Amino acid sequence: MSATLTFGAAPGAVPLLGHIPAIGRSSLDFMAALPAHGDLVRIRLGPWPAYVVCHPTLIHQVLVDDRLFDKGGPTYDKLREVGGNGLVTCEHRYHRRQRRLVQPAFHRNRLPGYAEVMSGQVDAVTRSWSDGQVLDVVAVMNAFSTGVATRTLFAGDVDPAVLAEIQQATTEIFTGVARRLIVPFAWLDRIPTPGNRRFLRARRRLEHHTHQLIADYRRAGVDHGDLMSMLLAARDDDAHGLTDDEIHDQVLTFFSAGSETVSPALSWAWHLLAHHPEAEARLHDEVDAVLAGRTAHYDDIPKLRTTARIITETLRLYPPVWLLTRRTSAETELAGQRLPSGSVLVFSPYVLHHHPGFYPDPDRFDPGRWEDGTVCPRSEQAFTPFGGGARKCIGDEFAKTEATLALASMAARWRLEPLPRERVRPAPRLALAPHALRMRLRRRCGP
Ligand code: HEM
Repeated sequence: MSATLTFGAAPGAVPLLGHIPAIGRSSLDFMAALPAHGDLVRIRLGPWPAYVVCHPTLIHQVLVDDRLFDKGGPTYDKLREVGGNGLVTCEHRYHRRQRRLVQPAFHRNRLPGYAEVMSGQVDAVTRSWSDGQVLDVVAVMNAFSTGVATRTLFAGDVDPAVLAEIQQATTEIFTGVARRLIVPFAWLDRIPTPGNRRFLRARRRLEHHTHQLIADYRRAGVDHGDLMSMLLAARDDDAHGLTDDEIHDQVLTFFSAGSETVSPALSWAWHLLAHHPEAEARLHDEVDAVLAGRTAHYDDIPKLRTTARIITETLRLYPPVWLLTRRTSAETELAGQRLPSGSVLVFSPYVLHHHPGFYPDPDRFDPGRWEDGTVCPRSEQAFTPFGGGARKCIGDEFAKTEATLALASMAARWRLEPLPRERVRPAPRLALAPHALRMRLRRRCGP
């Protein structure tokens, strides 16, 4: 296979810093330009080499061999420092046991229960909306998805003030992580700046509350049908469960993985719809026929096919998890290039999803490409918003359900209009969200 795949080196490295200045100017543009230099492209992060995997076949190879291409690299090393050893960040040697223990919480039969929480959160968020109001779309979609994450984790009788504190602490932790990711020197994280102090306080608060909740749940011994009850009940073959520290790490993982991803996807969907009236009209036809102005529920999902295609196409154009990294656990060869053990690999679903070789007119928003009977993309391996292999997103069905219910329910009653002269740019941080997105609400009259 490697005979036809090419290796190259990215031009433009500067002494000492390598490609860091180019990445700092625009990481998306930098990454998007790399496939022109090969299927596997060497870049330099300061003095260190890293390898950007650009071809879907190679990305697939990296995703499925999760022992050789283990979780690691700058993003995961930092995330692990902060978020511990949760399912997203843990190394291969800890992964299988954790995945087995956590998997039942994401079984299909739990989805209808989670979907009820999602529909309830749509009502909670939209209750205060009024015609003509200008929304900070990213903040509102974030409030929605954080509400879903909180209530699907803790459906029991938990003090709302504690839940609010957990939400706030998680947001602060992830703002801190995003900042730390761009600062390459670990010692800077230890300086007691206001930002670092806020971050450490938030981490302590979260730890305190989750350990308290774990103790309360264990004492009560009731299955609330939520993720927390499932995590506590999980047992491996030797009847061992997850420790309190492991559960704490999973809570932080679900909070961030759940809320920081669905909200950018929904925000982008509103932005794209506002600029593509034909797609918007089709969405309105569907939600008017299926929902007639009411909130969507789990049983409606099979009928919301246009909505689902809009979500899929949004995930293609703006995959929230736009950059992934790995570290080789042994010496290997990729695209004919020898990679020593410990090599850092980087790949981007964003770059892959915009590849003209796999998507005709790749920058065009066209939910129709996902209609039944069409073959999109040209290679199945070229669509990876949820990753792949054993480390594939455990919450993919959860996320699709959440996004579909929210988009359909909100569109059944509201349009979001763009503001004149508002320039919307992607902000590629931990997740790929719009930099800022304000839109005006218009109440729709149902059929
Ligand atoms: C649109 C929404 C979402 C997107 C785009 C997304 C994307 C991803 C991707 C790309 C990965 C693989 C990371 C890698 O290979 O390094 C991943 C893993 C994961 N995601 Fe998601 N995710 C979403 C929603 C969720 C939700 C709602 C949850 C939980 C409630 C979740 C929990 C996880 C977990 C636990 C993993 C680690 C799985 C493992 O390694 O076994 N995600 N996600």
